[in-house]
Amino acid sequence: MGNRIQIFDTTLRDGEQVPGCKLNMEQKVEIAIALEDLGVDVIEAGFPISSPGDFHAVEAVCRAVTNPTVCALSRAVQKDIEVAGQAIRYAKRGRIHTGIGTSDSHIYQKLKTTPERILEQAVWAVKLARNYTDDIEFYAEDAGRTDNAFLARVIEAVIAAGATVVNIPDTTGYCLPEDYGRKIKYLVDHVKGIECATISTHCHNDLGLATANSIAGILNGAGQIECTINGIGERAGNTSLEEVVMIMRQHPDLGLLTEINTPLLCSMSSLVSQMMGMPVQPNKAIVGSNAFAHSSGIHQDGVIKSRETYEIIDPKEVGAHESKIVLTARSGRAALKFRANRLGYQMDQELLNLIYTDFLNVADQKKEVFDTDIHVLMEKHSISV
Ligand code: KIV
Ligand code: ZN
Repeated sequence: MGNRIQIFDTTLRDGEQVPGCKLNMEQKVEIAIALEDLGVDVIEAGFPISSPGDFHAVEAVCRAVTNPTVCALSRAVQKDIEVAGQAIRYAKRGRIHTGIGTSDSHIYQKLKTTPERILEQAVWAVKLARNYTDDIEFYAEDAGRTDNAFLARVIEAVIAAGATVVNIPDTTGYCLPEDYGRKIKYLVDHVKGIECATISTHCHNDLGLATANSIAGILNGAGQIECTINGIGERAGNTSLEEVVMIMRQHPDLGLLTEINTPLLCSMSSLVSQMMGMPVQPNKAIVGSNAFAHSSGIHQDGVIKSRETYEIIDPKEVGAHESKIVLTARSGRAALKFRANRLGYQMDQELLNLIYTDFLNVADQKKEVFDTDIHVLMEKHSISV
C-alpha cells in the first residue's frame, strides 16, 4: 500500500489564463475527456463568473465527464460563489474552489483590509459555498508569502466552516522547496482538525521550483497536487503534471501513488499544445521532443549498448515512441552504424571508418544528418541494402 496522491489538473483554468491560450467550449470538453482518460482525479474546468462562455464551458465539462470531480473557481465573493454553484449543478461530483489573499501584500495592498476581516470573509465564503456542494476547496492566495501563524488560523477556521480541501498556493513562485515543505508541515502540526481535510499544493514556476516545491509539499503531508499539462499557467506557469507524476513513479521508495495512465502523457501534451497554440519547448522534461533524444557520441554509444545508461525512463512508459539517436557533428561511429543498420545497410569497420570521414564533412555543413543524407553517403560508397 502506498500513499495515494490526488492529481488536480488546472490546465483548463490556470493554464487557460495564459495570453493566447483561450479555448472555446468544444475544445475544453475535448481536453476534459482526454484528462478523464488520463486518470486525473479533479478537473478545474474554469472560472464561471469570468464570462458566459466560461460558465457554459464548465457546465459542459460537468456533463461530459463521469469519474473526475469537476471544480469551478470563485473569489470569496457572493456572486462568484453563486455562479460557480450553478455551473457545477450537473456534475456527478462537483467542487467549488473559493478563496482569498492571506499575505500582507494581498491584505493591505490589494484588498486594503485587515487580517481579521480576511478571516471572516474566508469563513463566510466557505459556508456560502456549502449551500451548493459538500466538496469545498479553500485557497489562501499567496500562502507562499503568508505568515505561517496567520495561515494556520485561517486554515483552521475554514476547515471548521466546512472546507474539505485546503489549498496552499505559492502564487508568486517565491518559496524554496525546504520552506514550502516546512510550511505544509507547520499546518499539519498546528491546525486543529487538519486530519479532516486534504492539503493541496499549487505552485507557480517563477523560479523554476514549482515541481520541487510540490514534491516537498507532498513529502510533508499534502495529499493533492495542482498542476497543468506542459506546466502552462500564469507567467512562468504551474507545476507540470507529467513531471510530478513521473517523479512519483521513478521513485517508488517514496510510496506515492497516482492513477495516471502514463502512456497517454505525450499525446495529452500534444493535444493541449495544439489546441492552445502553445509549443512545448524541445528540452521540456518527459514530453519535449528532445526528452529521449541523444546526440553526443559518448551518450549515443552508451544508449545503443544499453538504454538505461543515459535514460531513467523507458519512452514507452510515457507514450514517446522510442529513444532517438540524432546524427550531428558530435556523433560517433556507433551512432552512424546504428542508424545505417536501421536503414538496412551493413558495413565492416574499415568501410565505416571511410564513410565516417565523409559523414563528418556533411554533418559540419548541416545541423542534423537525416536518413536521406545517409542514403546519399551509402550510394557514394556503392553500398546497397
Ligand atoms: O496561484 C494561485 O494562487 C491561484 C489560486 C486562484 C488558486 O491560481
Ligand atoms: Zn495559480
